[in-house]
Amino acid sequence: MKKDTQISNAGRPKAGKPGYQSRDKEMVNTPVYRASTILYDTIADLKYATKHKNRNFYYGRRGTPTQWSLRDAMVELDGGHDALLHPSGLAAVTTAIYAFVRAGDHILMADTCYEPTRIFCNIALKKIGVETTFYDPLIGAGIADLMQDNTVLVFVESPGSLTFEVSDLPAISKAAKAKGAKVLVDNTWGTPLLYRPLEHGADVVIHAATKYIVGHSDAMLGITVCNEESWDVFQRQSFVMGQAAAPDDVYLASRGLRTLAVRMRQHEASGLKIAKWMETRPEVAEVRHPALPTCPGHDIWKRDFDGASGLFSIILHEHYSDDAVAVMIDGLDLFGIGYSWGGFESLALPADPKGERTAVPWKAKGPLIRFNIGLEDVDDLQADLEAGFERLNGAI
Ligand SMILES: Cc1ncc(COP(=O)(O)O)c(C=O)c1O
Repeated sequence: MKKDTQISNAGRPKAGKPGYQSRDKEMVNTPVYRASTILYDTIADLKYATKHKNRNFYYGRRGTPTQWSLRDAMVELDGGHDALLHPSGLAAVTTAIYAFVRAGDHILMADTCYEPTRIFCNIALKKIGVETTFYDPLIGAGIADLMQDNTVLVFVESPGSLTFEVSDLPAISKAAKAKGAKVLVDNTWGTPLLYRPLEHGADVVIHAATKYIVGHSDAMLGITVCNEESWDVFQRQSFVMGQAAAPDDVYLASRGLRTLAVRMRQHEASGLKIAKWMETRPEVAEVRHPALPTCPGHDIWKRDFDGASGLFSIILHEHYSDDAVAVMIDGLDLFGIGYSWGGFESLALPADPKGERTAVPWKAKGPLIRFNIGLEDVDDLQADLEAGFERLNGAI
């Protein structure tokens, strides 16, 4: 089944197929079930539910068809064994890491990871006696040299969501597996449509569904999809930590998922058009977009990914000050200024990776701007940016 077809049907049990219950025939999208207490007719019913609480009505925190449907859809799209939902992407990241470590362990973390992921390692993991080594995301098979006897987990974020280095996941996974370490991948940029890390050796794939899956910048959600060997440990940990996602947010993600494929095609086309135009601009020293040959790890992107999303960065020449960049961005009509990405609206965000790198110092001298290219008309976006470059040049 092609991805567009799969995305329309995933998570919706059909009559005669496993998981089908008659309630599913009522609506196209599984509706919002809001619940804490579930009522039982008898103590015998209560006992039955307590014994069979997985994917059965039991208690709100364990989910309802609203959550089960999105979990099923993501399992199908990512090719996993089972999935869980979390109140944010960061909660998914931290719960997944925490599930596989104990005091005295060592983990390897991509130097380009999302900054709060780095902070979690440096503060929360350190506190429980887990040591983190940050590694060059372009290290590939060389990661074998960083594996210690107590290394239990390698975390990959590919591409990095600020500087877009693409990692050789099969090579990293092979080295990790040789030592029995788990491989976790933050796949927020790729979505299950463009990249399926479980097919490339990962054990757990994590999505900040807040971004492209929700797609409309109006809900926070994290999703973790596990392979069979990782599921029991991960599920137990997640339940023990009380991880649960609110049904209204889950519904928004399920709804967003149905249009993900068409949105991603537009994000890719518009993003690439702007990125290629950026390459021709005299103000721009470097464009970091995985689909451009100059991007570190481009060949791996070409080998392992099915396309590109709409998030990339540019690095301006050194002589542009942060104040000049602010004049450029403040005056943009069609680009919002704000954290997060993956929504339908375009965003521009200045960022400085310098303070967030320890394995590979950030050497670029000019300011970096990250763009979330949204679903507006791309010519309008380009015209807005063109006027922005004029302001930039006038402000130095
Ligand atoms: C790559 C990446 N992973 C995880 C997260 C965390 O997601 P959330 O904002 O839903 O907590 C983000 C958020 O920006 C992100 O960019």
